[in-house]
Amino acid sequence: MVDKKYMLNSLQMAEFVARGMLRFDELVPNEINQAVMDAIDAGTITSHPAGTPLSECYPEPSPIGQVLRMPEVQGIIQSLVGPDPLFDHHAIHVRKPYEGKAQGMHGDSIIDTRMHFDVQLMYFPHDVPLEMGGTLVVPGSHFRRINEMDIARYQNFSGQVPMVCKAGSLLALHHGIWHCGRQNKTDKMRYMYKIRLNPRVRQYRLWNTDDLEEMTKQPQTIFAGEKRSDVQAILAKQEPWFENGEGRLEIVNRIKMWRFLTGDDNFDVHYWLTRLENMPENRMEMA
Ligand SMILES: [Fe+2]
Repeated sequence: MVDKKYMLNSLQMAEFVARGMLRFDELVPNEINQAVMDAIDAGTITSHPAGTPLSECYPEPSPIGQVLRMPEVQGIIQSLVGPDPLFDHHAIHVRKPYEGKAQGMHGDSIIDTRMHFDVQLMYFPHDVPLEMGGTLVVPGSHFRRINEMDIARYQNFSGQVPMVCKAGSLLALHHGIWHCGRQNKTDKMRYMYKIRLNPRVRQYRLWNTDDLEEMTKQPQTIFAGEKRSDVQAILAKQEPWFENGEGRLEIVNRIKMWRFLTGDDNFDVHYWLTRLENMPENRMEMA
């Protein structure tokens, strides 16, 4: 196991549950970024059979192995999917200069309604300005399970985030999140490496939970305009695309996932899920 100081904390986990993504800017050092791009150009990054333990993938010397074995990256992986998850697949995305097309918005793989989730890491080895496209993601879309390109006809979404970043940045994504590769309108190649990982353990309190009690002990009622940064506040935060500005369905989905991850079946945000579970069985005694 990686040292606790590299693991995610409870607020970061809440952010992942709420938005289906975490972003880590300029995490990987530049000498590794350059080595990865050289390896992509040389075609030396080889894949592995699906289901191979990650620890057996990318043996030295391997720049991708160097990225994945960084303690900061191991901390992210272990917090989300546990120690030594399984390699599912990887993809090396290269977009040519002035490429005349963009990828349609989609969810990866097939419809997948498990509460357990896979993680997709996207790694950007060079600076990505907006005109280079980058990967576009729709935060909070991970509970709206879709079948691959079913939504490809839609071009833009309220609240979408283009991955404009510096070299060495990393995205950790829930497998259900909506995303696409945008058009590269520069004279440079664009590179992105993606890997999907499957958990081998029950996703139960895998992160650094030292702050869990403190961050969930706040009163569960959140008043309008109140500034808070605890788990309940993060899980109650609206995305711009939520219907009627409320997104009650998404908040209920987030609560269910937080209960799954923490084992706390009484956890709630406001009264959203407790209300739905209120099914009295006591008969009123008649005099
Ligand atoms: Fe994709």
